[in-house]
Amino acid sequence: MEKITAIRGFKDILPDDAFRFQEVETIARFVFNSFGFREIRIPIMEKTELFKRSIGETTDIVEKEMYTFRDRDDELLTLRPEATASVIRAYIEHNMFANEQVTKLFTIGPMFRRERPQKGRFRQFNQIDVELFGDDKPQSDAEIIFMLIRFLQSTGLKDLQLEINSLGCKACRPTFSKAIIEFLKGRENELCPDCQRRINTNPLRVFDCKVETCGTIIANAPRILDFLCSDCEGHFKQVQSLLNDLKISFDINVRMVRGLDYYTKTAFEVKSGALGAQNAVAGGGRYDGLVKFLGGPEVAGIGFAVGFERLVACLPEEGKNVFQTDLFIAALGDRAQKLGFKLTNELRRAGIAAEMDYADKSLKSQMKRADKLNSSFTLILGDKEIDEKQAQLRNMKTKDQQALSLDNLQKTIITFIRER
Ligand code: HAM
Repeated sequence: MEKITAIRGFKDILPDDAFRFQEVETIARFVFNSFGFREIRIPIMEKTELFKRSIGETTDIVEKEMYTFRDRDDELLTLRPEATASVIRAYIEHNMFANEQVTKLFTIGPMFRRERPQKGRFRQFNQIDVELFGDDKPQSDAEIIFMLIRFLQSTGLKDLQLEINSLGCKACRPTFSKAIIEFLKGRENELCPDCQRRINTNPLRVFDCKVETCGTIIANAPRILDFLCSDCEGHFKQVQSLLNDLKISFDINVRMVRGLDYYTKTAFEVKSGALGAQNAVAGGGRYDGLVKFLGGPEVAGIGFAVGFERLVACLPEEGKNVFQTDLFIAALGDRAQKLGFKLTNELRRAGIAAEMDYADKSLKSQMKRADKLNSSFTLILGDKEIDEKQAQLRNMKTKDQQALSLDNLQKTIITFIRER
C-alpha cells in the first residue's frame, strides 16, 4: 500500500519537542500570570471577514496565505493566520471592556499560513499570543516588551536582539506613505511586480518584500521616524527611556514595518542569531484604533506573538531529551512478569513514572531499554529473586545495587524515589 504522508508544511511535533513545548508553555503561564495576564481559549476558525478587516486586504497574509473555504451553508471561513483578530473579536463579543479598564489576555495554539515552507517557516505553526487592552500609555509598551524579554530569557534563549520602531498613527502615517510613493515612483522598473502593484495599494508593504532588489531600493527610502507627529514622537521617546530604565537593550530599526496593517506607534521584533533567515522569534506592536475598527469601543491595544517552533529550535541543546522515567522494572520469567505488571501499575497509580518490558527479553536488552528511557532506577526481578523473597534495586547513575525485600516492596520503592 502506498503510504499517506502529512501535508506539506504541516509538521508532527515529536515527543522530545512536545516535551519542550510543554516546558515553554509552563514558563509562559508563570511569567505572564505574574504580570497579570490571564488565558483565553479561542476557536481556530473565524469568519474570513474578520482577518480581511484587521490584518488588511492588501497584506501578503490576506492576499496569498490564508486557508479559506466555503462552508456547506456558503459562509466564507478561514483557519486563523494569527490570533490578535480573534482575541479582539472575543473581547468585543463578551463585552470584556465593560468589566475592567485594562484587560490582559494570552492564548496559545496553532496558526495557519500558506507560506513557502522552509526552515523555521511552516504552514501550521504555534504561537503564544499576548494582548493588552485599555491602556495607551508608553508604560504598557515598555511593560509588554519587558515581559516578552523576561519570558524569552527564562526559557534559556541566548543571543536575542530586540528591535523597535514607530509606525506613526492615522494623523502622521499618510504623509509618510505619500513620501514613499514619491520615492518609489520613477524606480518602478527596478521593483518586483508585486511591489510595483504595492506602490498604489499599500506602499509600506514594499519594506518587507523578500526580493533582494526591492530591499536594496528601500534601504535608501525616507525614514518613518522623520515623519512622526509630536504625539507619536513623544510616545516613542518615552518607550525608549522606559526600556532603558528597565535595562532592556534594543536597536531602532527604521525599516521594520511588520507584515500586518493594523499597527500604530510602537512596533517590535525579537530576533535570534541562532535562527538564520527566518530569524524573528517574536513580533508585535501597538494597534490603537483596531478594536473600534472591528466594531468595539475606542480602546487602545498592544500585544505580541512568539513563534513556538522557532523558539524551541534555538534553545540550547542541553536540557533536550529530559524525559525521565523514575523506575524501570526488568522482569525475568513468568512469575516476575506477573508481579512486575502489578507493581508497575500500582506505582503509576501513586504518581511514579514506572515502565517495564512485557516481552520477557534478556536482562541485557531490558537494561538497554532502561537506559534509553532515562530511568533513575531499575528494579531487577527474576523468578530466582522471587524465591528468595527479594529484588535488586539499581541506581542507574551510581550503578549501586541493593537488595530489597519483597514485603512492602511498593512502599520501599516509593520512599527511595521520593527521597532521591
Ligand atoms: P507575526 O510577526 O506575523 O505577528 O508572527 C509572530 C511570530 O510567529 C513570528 O515572529 C514567528 O516567530 C512566528 N511565525 C510567523 N509565521 C510563521 C510561520 N509560517 N512558521 C513558523 N513561525 C511563524 C503576529 O502574528 C501578530 N498577531 C503578533 C501580535 C500580537 N501583534 C500584536 N499582538
